[in-house]
Amino acid sequence: MTPEVHISSHPLVHHKMALLRDPRTDPKKFRELLREVAGLIVYEATADLATEEVPVTTPLAQTKGRKLSERVGLVPILRAGLGMVEGIWNLMPNTEVWHIGLSRDEETLQPVEYYSRLPGGSTVDVCLILDPMLATGGSAVAAVDILKRWEARRIKFVGVLGAPEGVRRLTTAHPDVPIYLAAMDERLNENGYILPGLGDAGDRLFGTG
Ligand code: PRP
Ligand code: URA
Repeated sequence: MTPEVHISSHPLVHHKMALLRDPRTDPKKFRELLREVAGLIVYEATADLATEEVPVTTPLAQTKGRKLSERVGLVPILRAGLGMVEGIWNLMPNTEVWHIGLSRDEETLQPVEYYSRLPGGSTVDVCLILDPMLATGGSAVAAVDILKRWEARRIKFVGVLGAPEGVRRLTTAHPDVPIYLAAMDERLNENGYILPGLGDAGDRLFGTG
């Protein structure tokens, strides 16, 4: 299986990413930009969702339209993934949202699971994992592991910034999970931060740190 990695080439995404990276962007603006970028990336990530024909009556005539025929679930990785939910909900208001709490240990860079609230069995056809940062890839791989144990049918990773190291780790561990990003950066620094990156996404989103 050839892994799919989609990096957006959309000018609006490029424009908003430059603002998102800028340290002068305050938390209020950061949240707004992250919501907007998430909406633009999910537009690309959902291009292959199945639809079915439905009858439509316009004010003038009968015609045919299409509606989504797959149930979509959003799975934000806490905390920073939360910043992507609203922008996607604006486009798909009926999606279920299930939370996974993972925190990266600052010394080992390994993900630590501290919260996972999923129903008994998978209730959706497509799961979109939301996390703006794909750094070492440890958190993303752990989230996919959790969803696969939950017997999720189709899983996609929807992020914002990726490092080559993280993309390689996720595609190696889970080649069946397509990755959608706004940008692919150069590398990780010695502390596991993406360079040039945007800093700590969770802290910038919530005004902490
Ligand atoms: C950040 C980010 C990812 C993870 C990426 O979260 O939101 O979840 O790091 O790093 P990785 O690819 O090396 O695993 P963090 O653990 O800092 O938690 P936070 O969102 O609560 O700030
Ligand atoms: N998590 C972040 O928030 N930023 C990085 O650059 C890497 C991991």
